[in-house]
Amino acid sequence: ISNGLARTPQMGWNNWNSLGCDVSQDLLLDTSKVLLDSGLRDVGYEYVVLDDCWQGERGQNGYITYDEQKFPNGMKYIAGKLHDMGFKYGMYSSAGEMTCARFEGSLDYEKEDAEIYASWDVDYLKYDNCFHMGRFGTAKLSFDRFNAMSQALNATGRPILYSLCNWGEDYVHTWGMSLANSWRVSGDIYDHFDRPDALCSCNDPRDPHCVAPGSHCSVMNIINKVAPYVDRGGPGGWNDMDMLEVGQGGMTDSEYVAHFSMWCALKSALLIGTDLRKLTPNTLTILNNPAVIAVSQDPMGRSATRVRQDFNVKKDKYGQGEIQVWSGPLYPSDQLVILLNAADEDLTMTTDLNEIFVHEGPEGSAPHTKHEYAVYDLWADRMDERQAEKILQGDFKKYQKGWYNSTETPYKEGL
Ligand code: GLA
Repeated sequence: ISNGLARTPQMGWNNWNSLGCDVSQDLLLDTSKVLLDSGLRDVGYEYVVLDDCWQGERGQNGYITYDEQKFPNGMKYIAGKLHDMGFKYGMYSSAGEMTCARFEGSLDYEKEDAEIYASWDVDYLKYDNCFHMGRFGTAKLSFDRFNAMSQALNATGRPILYSLCNWGEDYVHTWGMSLANSWRVSGDIYDHFDRPDALCSCNDPRDPHCVAPGSHCSVMNIINKVAPYVDRGGPGGWNDMDMLEVGQGGMTDSEYVAHFSMWCALKSALLIGTDLRKLTPNTLTILNNPAVIAVSQDPMGRSATRVRQDFNVKKDKYGQGEIQVWSGPLYPSDQLVILLNAADEDLTMTTDLNEIFVHEGPEGSAPHTKHEYAVYDLWADRMDERQAEKILQGDFKKYQKGWYNSTETPYKEGL
């Protein structure tokens, strides 16, 4: 899509993972205050995205209204407040008669809805896939439904980032880039690192193993699902591995570090999903790692690719156990390397130059031929929890300087 937006993966916050339908004006304004005071806005989290359940009725004139109990001052008021704080405002609808939570959808009202979002000064639309005719229709059906909103948004003349959410169905990797700034690659994420695939891979309820269509994808399910398609994203349009679960409580901190690292390395849309009004110091130290965010926002926008996958290294309690090595170029001539241990146990992992430099160099140049490398651990020397706690107590300004300096020299170096 050529709307000029999302030249690097969009960053922000979305309420769905932690709060579902419990949405309100206060939630959005309180959250944006935390994003600001904690410094998360300044490391790039820019879009405050309201998910499902904000809608009121659709009026006789075809224009949608909002729930006045939850949003007493209306949407334009919230957009204004967010813009004043340096944020952008995101909203949600669905390419169906109803949204997934059974509110008014936008199918056949794309023009009216796009117009009203623009009139509310909205900057972002997440566009879902529930309750359309032919739930398991052809690629053309999906394409047409998502294209209608893409055209309608463009016709408003307002730059509105378009985040398409059809759960990886209908070969979206072949057409997502032409319509949208990001497209979901899987069913809904679940706050678990590596539960077996069965609950994720079943978008079709006719599949007898399918317990919860389109939902319950673990971090590892999503990584494995997107692995063949990582090259489909690039400046302007990105794979969306779903909102982050970091801070939600279902994984260990090191699993959250792996989750966050992979979302950055694979250039996923990067939306915090936890309730930031309850932000803890250790969650902050994961979400604000400037070195890892720099990987996500690398101007070249090339995802790492998987160069090794070993199964059955150590079986964990779910019978899973695998390790993976990922590698990819960073601008201008660095190489990102990830040793991903999903085997539930500390392991010594190794790689070598032949394995990680299988790709061409930056901008399609010849492979690297250097023989000496400085190696940086992007998770070393992180802000400690006491410092993060001080930030959350309101001392952000005092710590701000050291924090940014740390983007230049934060890493342990070795050969
Ligand atoms: C779908 C989407 C979720 C969320 C809900 C809202 O399940 O995939 O991300 O937007 O709908 O109802």
